[in-house]
Amino acid sequence: MRNAVLSLFLLFNAVFVVVAQPFTLPKLPFAYQDYAPYIDAQTMEIHLTKHHQAYVNSLNKAIIRSLFDPLTIEEVLLNKEALSSDAIRNNAGGHYNHSLFWEILAPKAKQGAISAELSKEIKTSFGNLDSLKKELNKAAMSRFGSGWAWLILTPDMKLAVVSTANQDNPLMPLEAQRGIPIAGIDVWEHAYYLNYQNRRADYLSAVWELLNWQVISEKYQQAKENTSLMGRLVPLKKKKKK
Ligand SMILES: [Fe+2]
Repeated sequence: MRNAVLSLFLLFNAVFVVVAQPFTLPKLPFAYQDYAPYIDAQTMEIHLTKHHQAYVNSLNKAIIRSLFDPLTIEEVLLNKEALSSDAIRNNAGGHYNHSLFWEILAPKAKQGAISAELSKEIKTSFGNLDSLKKELNKAAMSRFGSGWAWLILTPDMKLAVVSTANQDNPLMPLEAQRGIPIAGIDVWEHAYYLNYQNRRADYLSAVWELLNWQVISEKYQQAKENTSLMGRLVPLKKKKKK
């Protein structure tokens, strides 16, 4: 009897923990100081443990009061009804966007090479990596206020550069051009102000030094293979033949 009561107690607590804390802060793949001199250790620490943590905490608070609790982060981002709540929209975006950002950054010595497939696709879509860099930086520089610049794979399986405001992202059914993010650059001032103040262009140059093209290539491959997620995005209208 005592064991049964104990089991019920443990089961209740396990369920409560799962329901009450559906989203958690990811760990950085490297130490804060490993991203220097491109991004300083203090910025990395504050960005992760204060800003990203706040998105996770607020998302968990918002979602626990809603019907969207059992959903994965992608399911939340795809759900128009869930996104009608500003708290869910901003914090689900904040959690997803930052989680991707941490994954694609690495110190020079730990960076891997771009895959032949992604390299070929960049050549097809942009001409070369330098042209992609110019286009992504242009999207990042022209984003007024806070937001993100993205490299995405669209439903017609093409690479594209887009920008979103605040913590929105291209999976959301609120964006004109949707796709699965392959890489994202955070252009909120909290990402760079300590080191670069208002010099967003200098920060962007620094971020390019930290991009881990091996991970971005893996993201590209995963997006190509994720037909169920891609099928949930509205296909782009085909260009009319002249
Ligand atoms: Fe950020």
